Amino acid sequence: MQDTRPIGMFDSGVGGLTVLKEIRKQNCQENIIYLGDTKRFPYGSKTKETIIELTKKGIDFLLQKEVKAIILACGTATSQALEEVKKQYSIPIVGIIDATVQYLKENKKLRRIGVIATTGTIRSKGWQNAIKQQIPQAFLQEKACPLLAPMAEEGWTENTIAKLTVQEYLKDFSQIDCLILGCTHYPLFEKSIKETVGEEVELINTGEKLAKEIKKMLKEKKLQKESKQQGDYEIYLTDTETNFIHVASKLLKEEAIKEKIKKAEME
Ligand code: DGL
Repeated sequence: MQDTRPIGMFDSGVGGLTVLKEIRKQNCQENIIYLGDTKRFPYGSKTKETIIELTKKGIDFLLQKEVKAIILACGTATSQALEEVKKQYSIPIVGIIDATVQYLKENKKLRRIGVIATTGTIRSKGWQNAIKQQIPQAFLQEKACPLLAPMAEEGWTENTIAKLTVQEYLKDFSQIDCLILGCTHYPLFEKSIKETVGEEVELINTGEKLAKEIKKMLKEKKLQKESKQQGDYEIYLTDTETNFIHVASKLLKEEAIKEKIKKAEME
């Protein structure tokens, strides 16, 4: 049995592509439909009610494309809408938190944990609750970094302003073993973050941890595509007047990315 339907992925913008990149590495035969809600970016400063409403719209759009599972490749949507949408839809929906918390639970050396994410994610205590529940002995430090996602959309991730912004946000973290990049835009700042926290702090890219979980989930639910052929992906954006193409082509090392991008027809 094999299921050739695509996997659906959803974020407010370019950030979820850091997850797409990892999913493609470990599930290379799968086809992917990615939706970036660029029209309503940023999600990080919106209320929980709005995030739930927008996440439902995103899921409805992806369902029209006949996807077999949905990844909320967005920390803000995961922390505030995942629980709700899981109750309302029968399709498998996975967020970015669980796989990372599971990884931390199994890695006993990582007990002083830092989390950076959007304001909404930190306010929701999504990471805090999951970590406290699974790893009660962990020491947690959190920081909202609201400027980083907009800077990433602009492609400002390695310039002087990006470096100074990262330094300012991270200055209060002390003696952490690892730093969770709790917003999917943040792996784009990996270089600047590494320079700031030092090599000894493990940076956790949630997409990398999630990719393994997705592989396992597709197998268990008999949803995987069994093929030796490399899968493809399509990107839908709710607004195309953005810097998305440049950031995406650099991240995915795909020169012909323009041909993969379409306007998402949704309100
Ligand atoms: N990439 C998102 C996240 O993981 C959203 C950033 C934003 O829209 O503010 O939280």
